[in-house]
Amino acid sequence: MDEASTHAAEQGLADRVTFALGDAAEPVSGRYDLVCVFEALHDIADPVAALRSARDALVPGGAVLIGDEKVADHFTADGDLLERLNYGFSVLHCLPATRAEGATVEAGTVLRPGTVRSYAAEAGYGGFTDLPVDHDLWRFYRLDPS
Ligand SMILES: C[S@@+](CC[C@H](N)C(=O)[O-])C[C@H]1O[C@@H](n2cnc3c(N)ncnc32)[C@H](O)[C@@H]1O
Repeated sequence: MDEASTHAAEQGLADRVTFALGDAAEPVSGRYDLVCVFEALHDIADPVAALRSARDALVPGGAVLIGDEKVADHFTADGDLLERLNYGFSVLHCLPATRAEGATVEAGTVLRPGTVRSYAAEAGYGGFTDLPVDHDLWRFYRLDPS
């Protein structure tokens, strides 16, 4: 937090940027046009609660942008290099770390679009868009409350 505040101040952003530390599954104060969750949804012990909090933090017309590891739509053995890399991260870090927090679901690093869509539906979102962003490592999803 201190380092983040220092970096923001160094860049002349202190009057526009604030930092808060907390559990994303807890209610968020303030209302926002855009809530971003970058490379974290697969690590959150209760991702549906986190998406619910994000939805509740939106102004009317606001949206949530999820960025998470680029994985294939479906599991296919043996998988390509990226799938294997992500399963390596998953088994060696993300799954055990999330389990240690008493996870409600244990997705691990390989969070497929169908899983994000089902979390979003459970969290009460009416809209889910798998965004057409072509990136080597990331996939992006837009969630709309209605
Ligand atoms: C794979 S790391 C990536 C973080 C960030 N994208 C980065 O590059 O530093 C996943 C992050 O999710 C955060 N995280 C896990 N559970 C969380 C929760 N319940 N609320 C907020 N953040 C959480 C972890 O603290 C960690 O920083």
